[in-house]
Amino acid sequence: MGKTRDQEEENPLLEPPPPVTAVASRRRTRGPMLILVAAFVPLVFHLLLILPSKSTYHSLFLSLSDNATAARHLAALTLRPHLAGTPSASFASAYVISTLSSLSLPTHSSFYDVLLSYPISRSLSLSSIPFDLTQEPYPGDPFPITDVVPTFHAFAFTGTATGPAVYAGFGRVEDFAILKSMGVNVTGTVVLARYGKIYRGDIVKNAQDAGASGAVIYSDKKDYGGGEEGKCVPEGQWMPPSGVQVGSTWRGLGDPTTIGWPSVQGSCERIGKEEAVAAGLMPAIPSLPVSARDGETIQRSIGGQVAPDDWQGVDGVPVYHIGPGPGFLNLSYVGNETLATIENVFAVIEGEEEPDRYVLLGNHRDAWTFGAVDPNSGTAALLEIAQRLSRMQKRGWRPRRTIILCNWDAEEYGLIGSTEWVEEHREMLASRAVAYLNVDSSVAGPGFYAAATPQLDELLREATKKVQDPDNTSRTLYESWIASSGSPSIGRLGGGGSDFASFVQHVGVPSVDITFGEGYPVYHSLYDDFLWMKNFGDPMFQRHIAAASVWGLIALRLADDKFLPFDYTDYASELQRSVKILEDEVLGIDLNWSPLYESIEKLKKAAIEIGSQIKAMEDQSWIPKWTDSLKVRELNDRLMMAERAFTDSDGLFQRTWYKHLVYGPSQHDDYGSKSFPGIDDAIENAKTTNTAESWRLVQHEIWRVTRAITQASQVLNGNLI
Ligand SMILES: *[C@@H]1O[C@H](CO)[C@@H](O)[C@H](O)[C@H]1NC(C)=O
Ligand SMILES: *[C@@H]1O[C@H](CO)[C@@H](O)[C@H](O)[C@H]1NC(C)=O
Ligand SMILES: *[C@@H]1O[C@H](CO)[C@@H](O)[C@H](O)[C@H]1NC(C)=O
Ligand SMILES: *[C@@H]1O[C@H](CO)[C@@H](O)[C@H](O)[C@H]1NC(C)=O
Ligand SMILES: *[C@@H]1O[C@H](CO)[C@@H](O)[C@H](O)[C@H]1NC(C)=O
Repeated sequence: MGKTRDQEEENPLLEPPPPVTAVASRRRTRGPMLILVAAFVPLVFHLLLILPSKSTYHSLFLSLSDNATAARHLAALTLRPHLAGTPSASFASAYVISTLSSLSLPTHSSFYDVLLSYPISRSLSLSSIPFDLTQEPYPGDPFPITDVVPTFHAFAFTGTATGPAVYAGFGRVEDFAILKSMGVNVTGTVVLARYGKIYRGDIVKNAQDAGASGAVIYSDKKDYGGGEEGKCVPEGQWMPPSGVQVGSTWRGLGDPTTIGWPSVQGSCERIGKEEAVAAGLMPAIPSLPVSARDGETIQRSIGGQVAPDDWQGVDGVPVYHIGPGPGFLNLSYVGNETLATIENVFAVIEGEEEPDRYVLLGNHRDAWTFGAVDPNSGTAALLEIAQRLSRMQKRGWRPRRTIILCNWDAEEYGLIGSTEWVEEHREMLASRAVAYLNVDSSVAGPGFYAAATPQLDELLREATKKVQDPDNTSRTLYESWIASSGSPSIGRLGGGGSDFASFVQHVGVPSVDITFGEGYPVYHSLYDDFLWMKNFGDPMFQRHIAAASVWGLIALRLADDKFLPFDYTDYASELQRSVKILEDEVLGIDLNWSPLYESIEKLKKAAIEIGSQIKAMEDQSWIPKWTDSLKVRELNDRLMMAERAFTDSDGLFQRTWYKHLVYGPSQHDDYGSKSFPGIDDAIENAKTTNTAESWRLVQHEIWRVTRAITQASQVLNGNLI
């Protein structure tokens, strides 16, 4: 709800200092020591009295929420398309910088020269009849479409593919296996696949591995058009028939020419793009995304056997067949892979007591088109948080630890801005980062969704108990979150879907990712604009501010709490569950899982032990000790560094950039999060080859994870000998 300045001035925090009795109630947290000092220094005494407690400031943070501010920022950010590396991208970064500066937050930019990809020419014809490949503006569309990039796949292979069309469902590994089992030879064909289940780069990779000469990926009306009844933009939220999902096909992270190190400006070691292609991380066949209308036209041209049920479309369109042909596709694509400058923007609120401990909040700014949902609903929320924090600063709040607001560039191309920055500052982050809190799109629709590394589960739950559900004022977000399932469902951060990936998977920084809405039909298309958000995504901008409230509150607790609110007992329970799932997958095979279970038991004990040490210190905090602050710091360092211990400098087998042994992406779907990806990969390989050696490698991976978890419990225990 919008708050006016007048209302704000009435806030109790601005009332005169509370009576002296307030000191007594503060004794438990601040201690008589401070009062003793204060008695000799009247000025300090005075300051102590008028500065509210951190939790009072946190309540203030929630009360300062302002949906009008979020709406205003979103409208400004989405006036024009702002694709990374293009001239119009700088208008969005200038807006973020000027907004943060006007709030008196020190801002800073970091620039990188990275490989980006733009289309030069594209053509697609079906049995010699060309498609026009353009998205049509809707009636009354007020936004300038001249700067919108033509529909393409970033980093698609430059070349031509011709052949009979084959329909491959959602393009998953199992879909190609079905084609094979139905006797379809994909070699030399052009695959038609459908968006919606896995990362598009993996669809192209699977087509390539099956021998296809090219791939066309379309948005089926059933998935994006609302089915038979769905009303399209502008009458309804669904994708118009000419709408196309643009996106990247790079299967790695960061700049493809600097895998593992930062693309700093000036002289910088680079590898060729061909290395990424040779490693299978970039396509070696051309591809194009197309609309529902064009996809349906191609479907009508494909004969042969009827496709499986779950590959079919809505009733009322013809039954889909698998081919090959007789429809004959001719696809050609020429791309421009070129070094371009990108800009990450930061604002820093320095910590008062522990300035060298960082709580990072991150969101990306670059968009394929106008980016109203993806990602600028998140940027608007970030700027709204900045405004609240700035007001709190004016009332005397200073965080205990440093808060850094991060606004990334070139996420869409492959998490490039965040990854380059993490690679550049890897050691600093490894020794000082408390947590990274990511929001990509803050709102795509109703419903709260969250993912986290498990020591943050409890903090996430607590934060949602303090925020009202934007869609039901009679309950908290927490109550609505659990309404369907009875307990909150928290995802994990092994996938490559957004900028948390390098923090978690490369460095081992505890992280959270939150959003409202699970997917949305106009994703990565011309129609992801401010009017879509205003009409369908978040008409009152209440979801934006609920996202900002949860995000900011988690950050404030991490930045202000004396003891870091990390709970590793949750982590241990989660690990136990994940091991059980893997174990059940290979029942009957002679593998020894006990060491892994034992290491998790030790982690659980260490988690309980550090919990009671903290409790003991909190209970005795009225006894002043000179050593207290060192002891607090030592306990916090153990909590902060335990996650790092899950990383291993050798990384995952044949995917060495991924250092985290507990969370990493699925090899077949970059969006999918795997628990124990190394064990999982090894099991998959052993199931295929079924040699003694391949099963020995599974056992080896079990041992590796066991050792990492043992290291983590040592760090948590803090006992060397
Ligand atoms: C598939 O087709 C290609 C090219 O037409 C051919 O070389 C290959 O032998 C075929 N594979 C099978 C399994 O029939
Ligand atoms: C495919 O299209 C290209 C460009 O439009 C054209 O030059 C080529 O002859 C076509 N190939 C076939 C086999 O139709
Ligand atoms: C590729 O992009 C660069 C940078 O924008 C531009 O200078 C160059 O002219 C482009 N090349 C082609 C062939 O369009
Ligand atoms: C809103 O919350 C109340 C209280 O839990 C519940 O009874 C009601 O059904 C909810 N309304 C909707 C539309 O979900
Ligand atoms: C903010 O929320 C209030 C109350 O829900 C609503 O009346 C107002 O229109 C909203 N403002 C914007 C900009 O959406």
